[in-house]
Amino acid sequence: MSYPYQITSLEQYQEAYKKSLEDPEKFWQAVAENFQWRKKWDNVLSWNFSQPKVEWFSGAKLNITENCIDRHLAVMGDKPAIIWEPNNPEERTRVVTYNRLHKRVCQFAQVLKNNGVKKGDRVCIYMGMVPELAYAILGCARIGAIHSVIFGGFSAQSIADRLDDAQAEFIVTCDGAYRGGKDIPLKSVIDDALIGNKTIKKVIVYTRTRTPVSMIKGRDVWWEDEMLFAEDQLEKEGTINFPAAEMDAEDPLFILYTSGSTGKPKGVVHSCAGYMVWTTYTFVNVFNYQPGDIHFCTADIGWITGHSYIVYGPLSAGATSVMFEGIPTWPDAGRFWDIVDKYKVNILYTAPTAIRSLMGFGNGPLQGKHLDSLKILGTVGEPINEEAWHWYDENVGKKKCPIVDTWWQTETGGILISNLAGVTPSRPGWATLPLPGVQPLLVDDQGNEVQDKDENGYRKGNLCIKAPWPSILRTTYGDHERCRTNYFAAYPNLYFTGDGALQDEAGNFRITGRVDDVLNVSGHRIGTAEVENAINMHAGVVESAVVGYPHDVKGQGIYAFVIDSNTHGDEELTRKDILQTVTRIIGPIAKPDKIQFVNGLPKTRSGKIMRRILRKIAEGETENLGDITTLLDPAIVAEISKGRV
Ligand code: WT7
Repeated sequence: MSYPYQITSLEQYQEAYKKSLEDPEKFWQAVAENFQWRKKWDNVLSWNFSQPKVEWFSGAKLNITENCIDRHLAVMGDKPAIIWEPNNPEERTRVVTYNRLHKRVCQFAQVLKNNGVKKGDRVCIYMGMVPELAYAILGCARIGAIHSVIFGGFSAQSIADRLDDAQAEFIVTCDGAYRGGKDIPLKSVIDDALIGNKTIKKVIVYTRTRTPVSMIKGRDVWWEDEMLFAEDQLEKEGTINFPAAEMDAEDPLFILYTSGSTGKPKGVVHSCAGYMVWTTYTFVNVFNYQPGDIHFCTADIGWITGHSYIVYGPLSAGATSVMFEGIPTWPDAGRFWDIVDKYKVNILYTAPTAIRSLMGFGNGPLQGKHLDSLKILGTVGEPINEEAWHWYDENVGKKKCPIVDTWWQTETGGILISNLAGVTPSRPGWATLPLPGVQPLLVDDQGNEVQDKDENGYRKGNLCIKAPWPSILRTTYGDHERCRTNYFAAYPNLYFTGDGALQDEAGNFRITGRVDDVLNVSGHRIGTAEVENAINMHAGVVESAVVGYPHDVKGQGIYAFVIDSNTHGDEELTRKDILQTVTRIIGPIAKPDKIQFVNGLPKTRSGKIMRRILRKIAEGETENLGDITTLLDPAIVAEISKGRV
């Protein structure tokens, strides 16, 4: 495959950027010509951010799986689409060619149909990182069902809330999942999530770990049996095909839940055409993908990074995507490097938290690893500190691989701000320049564009985007008003990212982190309000306040201030009970790193918790806590500060 829209020089980038702003419709129409459509669009773009309503390529008909699979078969059928590396390095690798992927996705689409799934139905997918997860996702897309993948680290309660919010009728899961030395009993978590559920009709279970599971008659079916049956149904003269559903450009493709600053997670909805165009375009341009390159994105498909840069972007570009079931530190901290050498990986895309964690093991695990296939490195998920950037550059890239620092969000669907590998310059800690079509701007708290520069010539403000790019979120499932208030109401006619940023005189951006009450723990987004709600569920807890603090490996750690009614009890036990409660309600990823028991919280006279003060205390600041005279009980601050853990 060739990519006529591939940017190969700085001048070309500048040219493309300029054109994308002057005439966005013309620009994106030309890019969209490189995809397979059943029918082309009537209109390239119509939008307003006040409702919000955004439509890209409206009137067009397509199926994303024909772009990710079918269009490659004639010339690349035998090329690996997915190379799967098992958790246990002794186990056999699986290489899934485009032909094989086509067959499996068709079979699974038939399985879905046989089990009553129709276009528009919501299918929840809760699986480990096995190729069948990709078949399940693409099978849904083929039949036009809306998938909602839930990360394997979420608890039964979190799943139950998501199933309910999405009104999901089907689940695809595994008996269990392997992650490092652990077996996670996924089906049993699903069984707990389904107690009291009224919408789920069928659960399809793939066998991975052979852990015992309870299969409920009439509801639960085995993946393997269903696939064999579907194969027989579809088989005609040795080949099989399942006709892809014809989708409207703006039909929803998937829902992915993510945390916000208030209440329960939001179901971010992405649509078919815009998401496809953007993930493919950014995959090719940011990673400077060359046909034949082996691309290894280490994310879990339970997060947006895996959706966009393991599955949809690479496959639509006809690339070879490595999918890894395990974790970077098992059986030892050289695992990523072994995988790079084993498959001669050319592009490695990972998270700063993984880099920092591996850095902590020193250079021993790198001994004897070649890493000479690597051409391009990437990071995503949080700001990368310079120390980690240089370690990555020197020890992994051997100073010859450009590093792309890619800034984006679940809501943006794909990368919005990043250097382009080998094409535009990189700069440690800076995501640098926006992709064509992306118009970031910095505003102050009143919504005015920031003009003032500091002594370095940097502007500083809240990061907003002025106009839609093709894969902007379309709504939050079942509650459009929530989408509006969350993203489009803070500043009129702007999409607000929730991040703060700096911009230098050349236009480069450095993302400094969230400015709302959302934490970024090991690249995972966690709302402080959600963690507080979970802590408050524990019987002994009167009230709690959660803030983030700098953490060497995780980026941010979770610090909880807790008022405990059980003042004569065993603090250590209460602490453990709270951790257990959070694990039950959200999942182990949301467990506080530190819990401090306090007698009160710093509140204003109107009852609002002054988180600013708590953040400072959590960070270890004892002196400059700011103005505390407006507090109901200023004395509490000194007390909390003294008891810091
Ligand atoms: C938040 C989005 C998008 C994939 C993974 C996270 C932070 C993401 C960067 C980066 C600095 C970054 C932001 C953003 N973030 N990439 N390169 N530099 N910060 O997706 O869970 O939706 O989180 O991650 O704070 O808002 P997410």
